[in-house]
Amino acid sequence: MNISILNESQCQSISDQAKKLVGEMTLVEKIGQMSQVFGHNAKIPNSMREDLRAGKIGSVLNEVDLPTLNEMQRICMEESRLKIPLLIGRDVIHGFKTIFPIPLGQAASWDPDMVEKGAHVAAKEAASKGVNWTFAPMIDISRDPRWGRIAESLGEDPFLCSQLGKAMVKGFQGNDLNHKNSIAACAKHFAGYGAAEAGKDYNTALIPENEMRNVYLRPFQAVADFGVATFMSAFCDLNGVPATGNQWLMKQILRQEWGFDGVVVSDWDSIVEMTVHGFTEDDAGAARAAIQAGIDMEMASQSYRYHLHELLQRGKIDIDQINTMVSRILELKFELGLFENPFVDESEAAIILHPDHLEAAKQAAIKSCVLLKNENNVLPLSLSKTKSIALIGPLADDDYEIMGTWVFDGEAQHSISCKTGLENLLEGEVEVKYEPGLETVRSTDESRFDAAIAIAQSSDAVVMVVGEESFMSGEAHSRAEIDLPGRQAQLINAVASAGKPLILVVMAGRPLTLENVLPATDAVLYAWHPGTMGGPAIADLLFGESSPSGKLPVTFPKKVGQIPIYYAHKNTGRPPQDGGCVNINDAPVRAPQTSLGMTSFHLDAGFRPQFPFGFGLSYGDFRYENIATSHSVINMGDEIQFSADVLNAGAHEAEEVVQLYIRDLVGSVTRPIKELKGFKRIKLKPKCRERVSFILSTDDLAFYDHQSKLVSEPGLYHAWIGGSSDASLWMEFRVNE
Ligand code: BGC
Repeated sequence: MNISILNESQCQSISDQAKKLVGEMTLVEKIGQMSQVFGHNAKIPNSMREDLRAGKIGSVLNEVDLPTLNEMQRICMEESRLKIPLLIGRDVIHGFKTIFPIPLGQAASWDPDMVEKGAHVAAKEAASKGVNWTFAPMIDISRDPRWGRIAESLGEDPFLCSQLGKAMVKGFQGNDLNHKNSIAACAKHFAGYGAAEAGKDYNTALIPENEMRNVYLRPFQAVADFGVATFMSAFCDLNGVPATGNQWLMKQILRQEWGFDGVVVSDWDSIVEMTVHGFTEDDAGAARAAIQAGIDMEMASQSYRYHLHELLQRGKIDIDQINTMVSRILELKFELGLFENPFVDESEAAIILHPDHLEAAKQAAIKSCVLLKNENNVLPLSLSKTKSIALIGPLADDDYEIMGTWVFDGEAQHSISCKTGLENLLEGEVEVKYEPGLETVRSTDESRFDAAIAIAQSSDAVVMVVGEESFMSGEAHSRAEIDLPGRQAQLINAVASAGKPLILVVMAGRPLTLENVLPATDAVLYAWHPGTMGGPAIADLLFGESSPSGKLPVTFPKKVGQIPIYYAHKNTGRPPQDGGCVNINDAPVRAPQTSLGMTSFHLDAGFRPQFPFGFGLSYGDFRYENIATSHSVINMGDEIQFSADVLNAGAHEAEEVVQLYIRDLVGSVTRPIKELKGFKRIKLKPKCRERVSFILSTDDLAFYDHQSKLVSEPGLYHAWIGGSSDASLWMEFRVNE
């Protein structure tokens, strides 16, 4: 399946028009198209006006003042020789003004329709302000929660990330790029950026080719096939060659193997940074390396502008390369309909923060929250039985941090905190007593702990809202420790002494290590940074107006030392077993070297994560039974159906994300112990059951072998259906040659 943006004859005509235009361009104008410069906060300096007139700028990023953008487009269309409009780029990552949950939170919804809707709302709002290109989705596989950019990712799994990445592309681009609500999407950061060593941003990524193809490249290939308009090169050094100059990646894989013919833009300064990496000697060398790799447009730095002439004269690059690149950029401008109308009417902005957008953001936040613990069904709180709640924590009444990282355009004044959300829902029927306990998440001043304990003692239940500030995740914001910052753990443990049901709401841009606070809690709702409508969404969930239904898109470690920890790991020659791991504190003194398990685990953490991938509770009580396959043996090329009964044995109607995992027991390249191959969201009333089925073909079992060929191999497979990657209901099947 792919989004058919244009039919063949439209493509041909656009390509002809672009080529014709290239034929009329001077070298200066061609290089201009390949240059993306940043805006100047609603101003157009004279030098920029001159450059626009001279055709020296192809794209502007980070300017969202509509009159300014219309004026820039006017200069291009009326005062430049060839009247070529501008691409206007912006990081519209999880909403424009209406902020949706951070992408990692959206991924926890496992709901492609919702993700598509979120991107569509973002596109509509951004387009109304003159933006026609977003730098999203970020589909870097992220298996290291120390990495700040995990917040922007869709998690650890290639299949989930591919499905949701496509949904985002669809939401941004719609079915027709030439529609006023569509903007071009950008698959980033190609590729391997998420594997930054030690989770430190911009760090080296060392990924064997087989792992690259089977894990990191999968989502990129999926969105390339699907019709994403553009790609962005990654900052990182990938196996010794910076991605921006990596011909294996950019030429062999992207252009030759996948046939991608859209625009590739560099990341910010990533061309000139190749010299800092130690890959090129100077800006001219960097520009040449980027051209040789096929980077069509340079973001921010200006090595193309200053060096391509000379590189051409010296025969270091070829004019055909430049022509092809300029053609691709022009084609995108034609597809977006910019030649016909690059202007946006100011009245379009009326749709910003439209009630429908806010409602969609609220539903997204509801579906993104993951219920990690709910001892004795302490949640949902009863509206009729609860007289008062103590609302405690530095994020309980915060309308800024709730939006999360990568928010350039959203404003705190439009977002609703948990406190306001609860007060609006409860309308005085349940008293909300509020005490932040700590001024910020980083505070070390414990002087308000007593006040927090006092309101906890005098209330029926305690809701604590803790976590990270938004700056603690995102670009360049990695952490070496990923626990609750400041004295939040101390605050939680102090408030627990009041002996009241303690419900923890965590807002964060990554999985946090919660080992030291979990015992003090009765329930934990993981809300990520939920966006503009986070407060009302959380209020609804706490009081049972909706049931939590999010599932973890990434494994939660107990301790930082377990990282990288992900469900689809290899078996090793010595897989651990429950009961087979010795705890460091239980080991005998003067223990002999070989007595302690001899399997793959940590003496101080075992081998299990805190919470597995795919995990999430709800107010329903979902049970899985009667797994069956349509065939126990199939031939290569056949399809097979898997099904199981899902029963809601609980007392609440709820949604459940039913997951299908496969294991290929023997492979010419060893295979992960489980791989997600399908998921479906279902809704079940209490005591109701539904039979859920998935169909796979043997193509869906394929992986890249050591010759980098995509192969499905005969042999024995296992299949699980369940509510997380820890699913226990399984069957066996065999694939014959
Ligand atoms: C980031 C990109 C982003 C670009 C433009 C870079 O620093 O890595 O993800 O799209 O800036 O703002």
